[in-house]
Amino acid sequence: MRVLFVSSEVFPLIKTGGLADVSGSLPSALQHIGVDIRVLVPGYPAVLDKLSNLQMIAQLENLPVINNASLLMGTIEDSQIKVMVIKAAGLYEREGGPYADANGLEWLDNPLRFGVLSKVAAILSGPHSPITDWQPNIVHCNDWQTGLTPAYMKLVEHSTAKSMISLHNMAFQGCYAPGWLSTLELPHSSFEIEGFEYHGQLSFLKAAIFYADTITTVSPSYAKEIQSAEFGFGLEGLLSKRSNEIKGILNGIETDEWNPEFDPHLIKTYSATKLAGKKLVKSTLQERLGLHIDASAPLLGVVSRLTHQKGLDMLVPIMQDLIDSGCQLALLGSGETELENAFKLLATKNPGSASVNIGYNEPLSHQIMAGCDMFIMPSRFEPCGLNQLYGLAYGTPPIVNATGGLADSVVDTNIVSFKNKTANGFVMSEASSASLHSCIKQALNVFNNDAGAWRQIQKNGMSLNLSWDKSALEYLAVYRMLSKAS
Ligand code: ADP
Ligand code: GLC
Repeated sequence: MRVLFVSSEVFPLIKTGGLADVSGSLPSALQHIGVDIRVLVPGYPAVLDKLSNLQMIAQLENLPVINNASLLMGTIEDSQIKVMVIKAAGLYEREGGPYADANGLEWLDNPLRFGVLSKVAAILSGPHSPITDWQPNIVHCNDWQTGLTPAYMKLVEHSTAKSMISLHNMAFQGCYAPGWLSTLELPHSSFEIEGFEYHGQLSFLKAAIFYADTITTVSPSYAKEIQSAEFGFGLEGLLSKRSNEIKGILNGIETDEWNPEFDPHLIKTYSATKLAGKKLVKSTLQERLGLHIDASAPLLGVVSRLTHQKGLDMLVPIMQDLIDSGCQLALLGSGETELENAFKLLATKNPGSASVNIGYNEPLSHQIMAGCDMFIMPSRFEPCGLNQLYGLAYGTPPIVNATGGLADSVVDTNIVSFKNKTANGFVMSEASSASLHSCIKQALNVFNNDAGAWRQIQKNGMSLNLSWDKSALEYLAVYRMLSKAS
């Protein structure tokens, strides 16, 4: 089984969110169970810097617009994953992020940047590949940035490999003006409903959903949700038509990276059977963030993009009341200015009780996950979500809304679930401030009044196997099914 795994971000090379975590850890789990896998990623400066062992393996030709690009290959040291990198100086080697410049403005040529990524993936799986000693049977695409790959494979490269798209977030679709069709050398005849046209625009994600041989989502609940108008972002009709071919596979976590027993970012490590270290991590975090050092103050953690999806606007109106009742807040995130400002104001008003860090900080994200008592994630929709999984692993019970992967991984604490030892967090009854408030109060009730019960809830989460073991086998089964299909 040879798999080309195509992604626009891969941890530890380049990361803006959970897609990078998955693209860094799933290939490694698949490699462990015998899959011959290579990852294809754009050659952003960070990727070129971090892969010290890069070697050129081919010259890339017949790409849209670009006439001088090459394919390099290197290995991620920790995982020994082979990474193929597209080096095209004008396209990816720029200051700023993978999708936007330093001011957050999307790169205007994103259709070309990710069109080229998609095209290279298709070429590598087709009869004109410049690499003769390695051809994939499966091309595993991820999100809109790789969405044109299945279309190029079928319509242009006439590849015999099978394609699949993993949907990590339907909210981002990559829709662009039809003028890009010619630039990207896509057949105009497929710019129609039965193709990649979407409300008069070229849609990268629709191209994937329409042309891929199969579709996966990053949790079973999300597979069902996206077939409804509420979560399908306009593509629910097409997804419903392909209903039988959509499989939801819950994300796992990289247990080498996210493990309180070995985490190098923590002052002291701890485990389900030796929870004592978590206390020191909490007081160190409180000190670092300028919070009152108080073991009994319930410390609420947030690490998140601050966008509508994540629902943290629901926390703003209730947070003062929670602080007044003795809670503390440790928030790390960035996103919508209005929300950033609302949290900054809360921190200014509550020195010693609320810490708000606007920005991106990998070590601090680990310290918040470990040092807090509970993790707040009231997402309106959540394809999978990794942070609640990290919360479970770190003995920081998640407080979540019942959607997507949150519903598939967090078990609400009630009499039955507590008795049968499955309770591992607290689940809101609906996406509203009032529901979030009452859910947090339920958690506080246990935290403040019943230390034994709290420890049990922590341990229930910490003893789950959240690794990729099971889900990697499910992906392998999909690959096998695909390669058998004619
Ligand atoms: P999404 O990909 O939708 O943002 P996930 O929960 O799947 O949500 O993954 C988010 C990932 O990004 C996690 O690894 C989380 O720790 C990380 N992350 C999000 N915001 C920040 C931040 N401000 N600083 C550091 N890491 C962050
Ligand atoms: C997306 C989703 C998130 C998911 C991640 C990795 O960013 O928003 O829910 O965990 O992809 O699959």
